[in-house]
Amino acid sequence: MAGNPGFNTLAVHAGAQPDPTTGARATPIYQTTSFVFEDTDQAAALFGLQAAGNIYTRITNPTQAVLEERVAALEGGTAALAVASGHAAQLLVFHTILRPGDNFVAARKLYGGSINQFAHSFKSFDWQVRWADTDHPESFEAEIDDRTRAIFIESLANPGGTFVDIAAIAEIAHRHGLPLIVDNTMATPYLVRPLEHGADIVVHSLTKFMGGHGNSMGGILVDGGTFDWAASGNYPALSEPRPEYAGLVLSQAFGNVSFAIAARVLGLRDFGPAISPFNAFMILTGIETLPLRMQRHCDNAREVARWLKQHPKVAWVRYSGLEDDANHALQQRYAPQGAGAVFTFGLKDGYDAGKRFVEGLEMLSHLANIGDTRSLVIHPASTTHRQLTPEQQAAAGAGPEVVRLSIGIEDVADIIADLQQALDKA
Ligand SMILES: Cc1ncc(COP(=O)(O)O)c(C=O)c1O
Repeated sequence: MAGNPGFNTLAVHAGAQPDPTTGARATPIYQTTSFVFEDTDQAAALFGLQAAGNIYTRITNPTQAVLEERVAALEGGTAALAVASGHAAQLLVFHTILRPGDNFVAARKLYGGSINQFAHSFKSFDWQVRWADTDHPESFEAEIDDRTRAIFIESLANPGGTFVDIAAIAEIAHRHGLPLIVDNTMATPYLVRPLEHGADIVVHSLTKFMGGHGNSMGGILVDGGTFDWAASGNYPALSEPRPEYAGLVLSQAFGNVSFAIAARVLGLRDFGPAISPFNAFMILTGIETLPLRMQRHCDNAREVARWLKQHPKVAWVRYSGLEDDANHALQQRYAPQGAGAVFTFGLKDGYDAGKRFVEGLEMLSHLANIGDTRSLVIHPASTTHRQLTPEQQAAAGAGPEVVRLSIGIEDVADIIADLQQALDKA
């Protein structure tokens, strides 16, 4: 592509070429487990990481590679690694960074599944999480000690829908020689590009707005290419010789893409959460319309939030796109094009009215997902956030009275009509 292509162009073209053997213009689904070697020397070079190329779809696949290049381009990173789900991407990021006994500081306002992964499953690796409050960036600093190896936040928190001051937290991370990892699932690079605000690694659940059609699981990590993994000696997976690769030091061999390479040739190789070529294709196709969809999601969500706000049965609406919202200034600073599609509100009659409301909806689907073309609704306290304590639920913005909406790209009048009839019944 000539010059410096814009976001819309990258969403359609980045990483893709007409297929060299058939001329196919859409990226083919390379539905194969393995790839024939040219000769034994090439095979040896591939296994030794001296040459780039495909061996086996658990580790690389050409359809997956186009997806990786496209998301890296949209985020402004140097390289990416696509995997089976958002949670798999998080696992591989932390496996690349942490040793047993290390810890990281994470925002309390996170997707409930991430809170579970960090607080419970990561314990079996002896990785400790410490919680901090994104409304008070200095609280991250207070949790850092000599075994802290990273900070983790969401750019736009699920389910609260609040933007986070990425630059302030990046500054704290870098002052302590730590990488900042940002989950950009809810915002997508259309709204926020965390690497431009100081993040070092971006992760996504591609299952949500990136794929965008509610049909395929996927995740990705994006390497910002700026963090010095060798400086402190605290990241030995990258800075020490790897016995299985003849003593290769990944940070020396692969420079500004070494994090993405390490996550692939260590974590993905050994844990195996590969994305299927079919899902990579579906998500790639979804990404081509990301800018169009995200703008419609945001425009519809703002109208719905405004409408709910004046409804007599609604106690409160928390949408950072509303001018009087406490998070509005951060939204204007980080994502002036829109405030995303996911937000919460509370019904005056609390828990029971919330349940009746969800059951009364006809077009909106009651399910555990966000970022579909369709409008979705859920009651987080009884579903996505139910494993959390009441204190954790409240801190995550998922108290018992809270209803979460993920506004789709239908006609906004039809979304409002469905909400109206369900509120009448509640
Ligand atoms: C913000 C966020 N991060 C990560 C995840 C996990 O992604 P996945 O379900 O693809 O594993 C989700 C899933 O809902 C999410 O909303």
